Amino acid sequence: MSSPQICYDKLVFVMFNSPIEEIKDRLDIVEVIRGYIKLQKAGANYRALCPFHNEKKPSFFVSPSRQIWHCFGACSEGGDIFKFIMKIEGVEFGDALRILAQKAGVELKRQDPKLKTERQRLYEILELSCRFFEKQLEVSPTGGEAKEYLLKRGVKEETIKKWRLGYAPDAWQGLSDFLVSRGYKREEIERAGLALKSEKTGNYFDRFRARITFPIFDLSSQIIGFGGRVFKNEDTAKYINSPNTLLYDKSRILYGLNKAGVSIRKKDFCVLVEGYMDVILAHQTGFENVVATSGTALTQRQLSILKRYSENLLTAFDMDLAGDSATKRGIDLAQSHGFNIKVITMPEEKDPADVISENPKTWQNLLQEATTIHDFYFNNALAQFDKDTLEGKKGISRILLPVIKRIPNKIEQSHWVKNLADVLQAREEDVLAELSKIKVDDFSKQTFEQIIVSPPKSRKELLEERLIMLMIKFPEKLSLIKEEDFQIFSCRTLEIINCLKQKKKNSQIDYFSLKAETGQFNFESKEEFECYLSEIRNLMLKNKLDNISKEIKRAEEEKDFARANQLFKEFHNLCRRKEA
Ligand code: CTP
Ligand code: MN
Repeated sequence: MSSPQICYDKLVFVMFNSPIEEIKDRLDIVEVIRGYIKLQKAGANYRALCPFHNEKKPSFFVSPSRQIWHCFGACSEGGDIFKFIMKIEGVEFGDALRILAQKAGVELKRQDPKLKTERQRLYEILELSCRFFEKQLEVSPTGGEAKEYLLKRGVKEETIKKWRLGYAPDAWQGLSDFLVSRGYKREEIERAGLALKSEKTGNYFDRFRARITFPIFDLSSQIIGFGGRVFKNEDTAKYINSPNTLLYDKSRILYGLNKAGVSIRKKDFCVLVEGYMDVILAHQTGFENVVATSGTALTQRQLSILKRYSENLLTAFDMDLAGDSATKRGIDLAQSHGFNIKVITMPEEKDPADVISENPKTWQNLLQEATTIHDFYFNNALAQFDKDTLEGKKGISRILLPVIKRIPNKIEQSHWVKNLADVLQAREEDVLAELSKIKVDDFSKQTFEQIIVSPPKSRKELLEERLIMLMIKFPEKLSLIKEEDFQIFSCRTLEIINCLKQKKKNSQIDYFSLKAETGQFNFESKEEFECYLSEIRNLMLKNKLDNISKEIKRAEEEKDFARANQLFKEFHNLCRRKEA
């Protein structure tokens, strides 16, 4: 037994007849994995290029008879379908469970409500809010105007349903009051990113008001946030968006990927646009491999997720070469990681949504005429400067040398070195000499791959694992876990706690295998349990404190002293708890 992680899987399976078993019975691992990567038959097994690391020869195997996978290459890792989904979708066990349950048509029983994680409550709040907004779009008079607006922009009725567009009413507490009537607390609504607290009165008010709402989905199509667009009062910000929350991490979400994934894999390229409307109209017109960055720069995380789908990107961004724009940095990052990038040149003053709603054929043509990122940079640099003057030559090389430097493939790189030498009427070795002086950000491959492959276990994860082993060995310790600890634990741990609690009395625990498993660990004494628990609690507290101090810094930078003050208070309260 190599790691405790595997022990739990086995234990939980042995002990309880769980939905996990049910899902495994119903799904074939070969079919599930085939949905993500191309499998080739190899005797009784299947093989493929490992999706978790770069390789030339396939060392990833799937065994239909044992219903497991294993990479015999660099990862030398393997597991069941759950482990596969966790890794490839980059999700926790609980989310993998939900994804697979849906695939298998297995209904997950509701957990003990006290054990419901904060995460789950937030998911519920967001789902309920989405239904509320959808309803408002249909029944309220101003909602009707919002819908008119959407229809006028070419969004079809069925598209509104598919993307679950809605309307947030023009009221300070419309949504909040509704959610409170359904049993949610105002603090929770704030933590879901849907309400704000007034500094002056201390009252909560809705974040989204008088706006068309675009729910933002995660990869399993659960709602994690919203974007809200004005549609008649144009003198406020066009969009407001959910902040980062426990569920919504902007750096790893691409809008529309939950619906675009299959098509991206099939066509083996992904079109990147900026806006919600661009994605929605593209999909409606049959271009389903389109996702949006929601107006921000591409991040490392987004790229590592995209890489699982395709390495070919077409961008329809507004590309400003002159400055050090966020868009350009994102593209540079993608380039350094070996994505093949092409640039769609949009007609002046138009975005994909405009082009598509005017004439889908034009969009199709633009896709076909997309130029490689290198051609794009070359053409633009040459258009900006006069290549026959000394100043011009300098300008051109200032733009192009970093671009060429970032090309990972040496042959491709030397092709562009030659081109640049030609254009500047310089010698190739001089271009090479200049190239060697250039420093580009070193987005080392290593860190990138670390993100694709699951990160090493954190201290907290290790502590949780030990804690679970102790709980299994000494079930009486369960009572030491307080309700407020539930938000500390991962879904997986909670699930195990849940199982242990329910089965405590008439347990069918197989004591023999249990002893064998827990025997792997040398526990000094029961008291270790308290140590681990308090260490986890402190770890979380420390995290919270770190976050607050970061926020304080930000508030001070933004001169928001009221907020900084409030954060200080929070900080001190937490410190006191730590000392207690
Ligand atoms: N955006 C934002 N806040 C703004 C403006 C834009 O968050 N004040 C984000 C939104 O995610 C938006 C994207 O940037 O979808 C692209 O912006 P834009 O092209 O202005 O909006 P579209 O969604 O294309 O909207 P429309 O076509 O309706 O103008
Ligand atoms: Mn737009």
